[in-house]
Amino acid sequence: TSRIAAAVGLSLTLGLAAATVHAAPIVVKFSHVVAENTPKGQGALKFKELAEAALPGKVEVQVFSNSQLFGDGKEMEALLLGDVQIIAPSLAKFDRYTKKLQIFDLPFMFDDMAALDRFQASPKGQELLDSMKSKGIKGLAYWHNGLKQLSSNKDKLVRPEDVKGLKFRIQSSDVLEAQFRQLGANPQKLAFSEVYQALQTGVVDGAENPWSNIYSQKFHEVQKTIAITNHGALDYMVITNSGWWDGLPEDVRAGLQKAMAGATAHANKLAAEINDRDQKLIAEAGKAKIQTLSKEDVAAWRSALKPVWDKFQDQIGKDIIDAAVASNQ
Ligand code: LMR
Repeated sequence: TSRIAAAVGLSLTLGLAAATVHAAPIVVKFSHVVAENTPKGQGALKFKELAEAALPGKVEVQVFSNSQLFGDGKEMEALLLGDVQIIAPSLAKFDRYTKKLQIFDLPFMFDDMAALDRFQASPKGQELLDSMKSKGIKGLAYWHNGLKQLSSNKDKLVRPEDVKGLKFRIQSSDVLEAQFRQLGANPQKLAFSEVYQALQTGVVDGAENPWSNIYSQKFHEVQKTIAITNHGALDYMVITNSGWWDGLPEDVRAGLQKAMAGATAHANKLAAEINDRDQKLIAEAGKAKIQTLSKEDVAAWRSALKPVWDKFQDQIGKDIIDAAVASNQ
């Protein structure tokens, strides 16, 4: 027995020594709802690559795509509970935590992605990364996807009156709800993972998405027409639990921050390329018709949707709206 005790004692000592030399890596779970071949999917993988290269043996980043770990509706709660460390919801999905981010969903707010990028980089835009501080949520970065296109299961999708009475899937956003009501359409909030089936079975008639989401989820196979409306943006805020983040060893936090900067540059550079590529692939697939709009058509959508801005001005704040408008010049 004394030999056994000695052996146990020795292995305990060795085990402890090993534990101090090779502390288990900090596991960073990064969960998102889209496919890997999208701007967000690629950004998440880049973050893993850069973080693990910068902090060898110290962190392990686990990326979960396609809502496989947490879908919409669960991921924010999971972040706050510490079940996942990084998520990157679309800017439309923060309604319950701050009204200020509703700026990103106002229809025709940004003339193009360059304007959106300028706003995000501006002092006001950067300030918004901290808009959920009191809720324990820290914004690490903005990631681009692209401008949204409107799609439906009808042949005609040219003018605002063409969507009257139709049902549209929306992200969980009061602005987007108001947007479709303004057009006389019926919005329905649904998790991203449920959209394909809802379109396929006719639970909803249409949706709005950037090309990369339409292509990667095959929405073009269950829609008749996709109109090039560019009527709004779909971008992301990469967020973390601020308690977890602040509790990280300093070198780990600095390494993750640097990896995030690299992943952000990568995702944002790819976003335009991926959306252009996917628009072409959708055209080639020949399933949904891609409807181009004239300047007059776009002007009609713009003026039909303008009243939505007034409804949300007080909640968002005029200073933020003015700064966003200024980014268009
Ligand atoms: C959606 O729900 O349509 C998007 O927010 C999905 C995504 O993350 O791009």
